[in-house]
Amino acid sequence: MLWSNAQVFGDKLESQALQKGCEEDIEKHCRRCIGYPTMRTMNKLKKYGMYTLFFMFIFVVVFQFSEDVRQPAYPVFKRSETNQTNRMIIVVTPTYKRMTRIADMLRMANTLSHVKDLHWIVIEDGNKTIPAVQDILDRTGLPYTYQAHKTALGYPRRGWYQRTMALKLIRSNTSQILGQDHQEGVVYFGDDDNSYDIRLFTDYIRNVKTLGIWAVGLVGGTVVEAPKVVDGKVTAFNVKWNPKRRFAVDMAGFAVNLNVVLNSDAVFGTSCKRGGGAPETCLLEDMGLEREDIEPFGYEKTKDREIFVWHTKTSTPNIVQSKKNQTKPVPPPDTFGYFVEV
Ligand code: UGA
Ligand code: MN
Repeated sequence: MLWSNAQVFGDKLESQALQKGCEEDIEKHCRRCIGYPTMRTMNKLKKYGMYTLFFMFIFVVVFQFSEDVRQPAYPVFKRSETNQTNRMIIVVTPTYKRMTRIADMLRMANTLSHVKDLHWIVIEDGNKTIPAVQDILDRTGLPYTYQAHKTALGYPRRGWYQRTMALKLIRSNTSQILGQDHQEGVVYFGDDDNSYDIRLFTDYIRNVKTLGIWAVGLVGGTVVEAPKVVDGKVTAFNVKWNPKRRFAVDMAGFAVNLNVVLNSDAVFGTSCKRGGGAPETCLLEDMGLEREDIEPFGYEKTKDREIFVWHTKTSTPNIVQSKKNQTKPVPPPDTFGYFVEV
């Protein structure tokens, strides 16, 4: 392009020179007449070349910089864990069709995908798995198991049966869930609508040798439930609801080492009287655990202690579906072709 422009420029000057009377001694005159414009052409070429080189340099620098921004040389959110253990974290999540479920699972998936060495077991309370949930799991890049087990007769519809099925799966498929690189694991029951700090997994759960317990925010009718720790030992529980339980802790507030799970056949039953209706203490007691087995996490500071898991609850949006005293069944709201579990 540049070269042909220069040629056109040179040709133009050559014809001008010929018109000026270079015809008689084309050899002599044209060397003089055309020699000068040819030099100018070369200078122009040099100038354009310099510009081109300069712009190419800027382009390369900018491209290189943006490449750095897009692909940092180190993982930004994957926390470098200080501990040496590479225990597999096995997260068990019961889930079921509710209007907010896709949003909840998306938030949870976004959190878990920052944690390495984690296998996510998701049990659908229904007859079949849901493609939209499967897509979310696929996009995490995590190893996962997604199965459907509809709550059996006699069980409360609160995720108990699904966790039982997950425990059975863990016991019957231990090596597949652990993967080739792991000999040890920790099991955590993470419900789909809680809010999780990545450090819950990297700093607490990964380090659980037997039974780890920590604070949970916004739970049990109060702002925080936490183990009461004296000289590194749990002596009681700072909870409002049913504090006399051997393990007065919400599902989100503990994790057990895989060996504890494998050395027992404890599952979630159909009820838990010792827990006043809450299933946690029954499971842990049935696993043969005592209060002395508890390893408390996150209590070391005397103030500004941090909460790593919040028992947030999604409420169903108040979408007007029917008018009062309506006798005819009302069709579900239009989702305009988008997938929403209405
Ligand atoms: C609280 C605790 O945080 C749960 O761990 C405990 O199982 C539950 O109480 C209980 O009553 O036993 P909460 O936030 O009140 O949970 O209840 P949800 O979040 O609605 O349900 C707990 C889990 O079970 C969720 O992951 C949910 O998706 C699942 N679930 C709930 C089902 O699989 N099927 C259902 O019909 C209801
Ligand atoms: Mn919940």
